[in-house]
Amino acid sequence: MKKLFAAFVIAALPAWAFASGGGVELDHVEIDLTDKAALQDGARTFANYCMGCHSAKFQRYERVADDLGIPHEIMLENLVFSGAKIGDHMKIGMKPDDAKAWFGAAPPDLTLVARVRGNDWLYTYLRTFYYDPTRPLGSNNKVFPNVGMPNVLADLQGHQYIGCKQVQVVEDGKKQFDPLTGTPITHEACDQLAIAPNTGALSEEEFDEKIQNLVTFLAYSANPIKLESQRIGTYVLLYLAFFFVFAYLLKREYWKDVH
Ligand code: HEC
Repeated sequence: MKKLFAAFVIAALPAWAFASGGGVELDHVEIDLTDKAALQDGARTFANYCMGCHSAKFQRYERVADDLGIPHEIMLENLVFSGAKIGDHMKIGMKPDDAKAWFGAAPPDLTLVARVRGNDWLYTYLRTFYYDPTRPLGSNNKVFPNVGMPNVLADLQGHQYIGCKQVQVVEDGKKQFDPLTGTPITHEACDQLAIAPNTGALSEEEFDEKIQNLVTFLAYSANPIKLESQRIGTYVLLYLAFFFVFAYLLKREYWKDVH
């Protein structure tokens, strides 16, 4: 019974994750798990910007290096900062109790986070940190209100602010215009994000791509078998096509004398 309940909970996780979007519309992201360059860039960002606080402890450095086509020496030099060995799990030194004292919440392990939250949630979350002086660490987040995580990507993205702006009313996916004057119908929306110009190392497009790559890496990490099953699937289909030819020839041979 317990097992059944656990299975149910696991099956329901994606729905929960969806429910926790907080009513904020999520931005969609396209993920290509076969894009090695994107995966490598994502792994680099993860090691440099996330592993100070988050582990990926169900994953080994070696497996990541091999799956992503990164030579072991390069992996150890550029992506492993804890003195770990190539065969080690991707753990970190920060203790959960310390983290809780510092941030109000312990940073969760991120190996499976893409399965729990979904790619679109991650993509939106990582791009919607904004300046909020009322928070202990000076920042807040649009899809995760009052989050304990500081805005660690601010030097890349720049300083993002939230404020009010006149935006055009959209109904059923159509922009609304005044039927008499033809001017756009607007309303004031106070959840609009804007980045102060020239405050980040990357342009908005470059930053979005960085996060897309990071989410690609997290999606791979949550399901490393997927890459392999796609590769194996191709061989299985090739094998079946090849086998069909021989099966057909054999059939012809057997039936030759019957006709
Ligand atoms: C300075 C420490 C720190 C760094 C660096 C950091 N995080 Fe976090 N992160 C946290 C904390 C603390 C939380 C828990 C927030 C809470 O529950 O309020 C968190 C939460 C999260 C969550 C939400 C998890 C969930 O499902 O609730 C995600 C996703 C996440 N971080 C991704 C990242 C990524 C990706 C990076 C690298 C770009 C990163 N974090 C860097 C501290 C950090």
